[in-house]
Amino acid sequence: MTIEILYKELNVLITGGAGFIGGCLIRRLLNNRKLNIFNLDKLSYASDLRGIEECDEFKKHCLFKVDLSNFEETKKSVLIADPDIIFHLAAESHVDRSIENSKPFIESNIIGTFNLLEVARNHWNHLDKKRKKNFRFIHISTDEVFGSLGKNGYFDENSPYDPRSPYSASKAASDHLANAWFHTYDFPIISTNCSNNFGPYQFPEKLIPLTILKAVEDLPIPIYGNGENIRDWLYVEDHVDALIQIINNGEIGKKYCIGGNNEKTNLQIVNNICSYLDKKLNKNYSHKSLIKFVVDRPGHDKRYAINSNLIKKELNWKPKHSFEDAMNKTIEWYLNNKRWCDNVKNKSNYSGERLGISKSKI
Ligand code: NAD
Ligand code: TYD
Repeated sequence: MTIEILYKELNVLITGGAGFIGGCLIRRLLNNRKLNIFNLDKLSYASDLRGIEECDEFKKHCLFKVDLSNFEETKKSVLIADPDIIFHLAAESHVDRSIENSKPFIESNIIGTFNLLEVARNHWNHLDKKRKKNFRFIHISTDEVFGSLGKNGYFDENSPYDPRSPYSASKAASDHLANAWFHTYDFPIISTNCSNNFGPYQFPEKLIPLTILKAVEDLPIPIYGNGENIRDWLYVEDHVDALIQIINNGEIGKKYCIGGNNEKTNLQIVNNICSYLDKKLNKNYSHKSLIKFVVDRPGHDKRYAINSNLIKKELNWKPKHSFEDAMNKTIEWYLNNKRWCDNVKNKSNYSGERLGISKSKI
């Protein structure tokens, strides 16, 4: 799938392109020779450019090492990139880190989004008529802004906001800013709220890569609380498909909820990974014996689940990958890229130990 060419060449600015989802999007867009790709990223602990550097078209990628909380630097980057399309993915993204220290989340996710919106709006105002009409700003957000579901029901485009963690509160604030810039200034924004992603190049502090690496290294696999919390998992390539459908055919001012329709408890996810590794590595014990139930995350949302009917119906999107195939691919990727994992962990001084509360329950 490629972005349709509205006119000769398009300049595409991706914020957070050195992160997990932004990197996947850039790798995909680099296949399209008519797109000039600009990546604005502060290059934090969660960043890594190796995935992009492996692409043949890597040289077409232009990196700005810029922190969105710096207005002047953001302005300069937008001026140079001269974008027709902006995908805004840059954010502090890990809930546990937001509980430990929320300030970077306010600075990046709220102030950073405000700065980008202002700079982008000014840029858009000065475009010629044709470019102005075709300009799009895609604001990428999460289902976590809607809070926590009980046993039944789904989040959709009309769900009320009810964020519970500093991370989700900061993302909710950024969603409200994006919405306000559309209504107040007619700034051509489309917003998305997506469920939990998984796949290659995800920083190993999130549940799936952390579990794989802990299991491979025979280290305890921490499960918060009783492991019954539910997430709706989506393979990252399917999320990127959705973003491309949205840029091609999405309606300005609309929001699209994106989910995988793969609800799993955390315990199911961890057991699934352990079973795969049991077969693959053939050790003389089960990796499930490494599972350790630890004290729960404060404010731990019970269940997320997305109703994606709107994007399915209007934009003809649906996930192409089955959960099982995508999960197996992901596990294989981490097994084959142990060096990448060691490098990102070393670079960030991240030990894989949980931040914040770490007292074990057992
Ligand atoms: P990530 O943590 O892997 O990458 C985020 C990138 O943004 C990093 O490279 C980081 O350096 C950059 N960044 C952060 N603050 C910045 C700033 N102030 N200035 C410039 N760059 C900055 O995150 P991800 O998982 O790739 O998530 C990308 C986006 O998608 C985020 O907005 C997140 O809220 C959203 N999202 C993620 C998921 C998921 O499951 N990972 C699900 C739904 C939505
Ligand atoms: P995470 O990957 O941090 O994503 P999010 O908090 O954005 O959903 O966590 C996914 C789920 O896994 C969440 O319910 C918390 C839980 N979890 C654990 O049980 N153990 C862990 O070590 C981690 C990182 C998460």
